[in-house]
Amino acid sequence: MYLARLIYTSVPTHDFSPDDISGILETARHNNREHSITGLLYFNHRYFLQCLEGSRSNINKIYQRILNDCRHQEPLLLDYREIEVRDFPEWEMAYLPETEQTRSLYMRYSPTGEFSPYHMSGESCHQLMLSLRKVLPAV
Ligand SMILES: Cc1cc2nc3c(=O)[nH]c(=O)nc-3n(C[C@H](O)[C@H](O)[C@H](O)COP(=O)(O)O)c2cc1C
Repeated sequence: MYLARLIYTSVPTHDFSPDDISGILETARHNNREHSITGLLYFNHRYFLQCLEGSRSNINKIYQRILNDCRHQEPLLLDYREIEVRDFPEWEMAYLPETEQTRSLYMRYSPTGEFSPYHMSGESCHQLMLSLRKVLPAV
């Protein structure tokens, strides 16, 4: 049972309120705990960027469900690979909204200096997520 990581981006289908996000996170964390999935969800009102870590089979199962979710559209798989270690082992699904602090990270990883995951490589998105990890509150 190999460890793998999947990163995708998508566009919300409507204006998300904090309640929408907390509903998603509640389900996500419950399901992810059951499947030993960890990761990070980042959201800036225009795009979702999510990283899922866990066994190949569980990542596939959860990603299929996520793809069928009508709360977002235009999902684009940015990176999928086998990994040796998790980046987010303490988080069933960490969540970060965009803030001034996270905005200041974009120039390093994005060709435009904007958060535009559809124009960023999978590895740039991964590196951005590693920087975002430093902003997460301690668990
Ligand atoms: C942006 C986004 C991220 C999501 N992330 C997860 C996740 O990490 N794990 C998960 O199980 N469901 C996640 N969901 C919810 C799934 O799409 C789906 O609603 C859920 O897995 C269904 O669970 P249920 O069959 O237990 O009702 C996410 C949904 C959205 C819109």
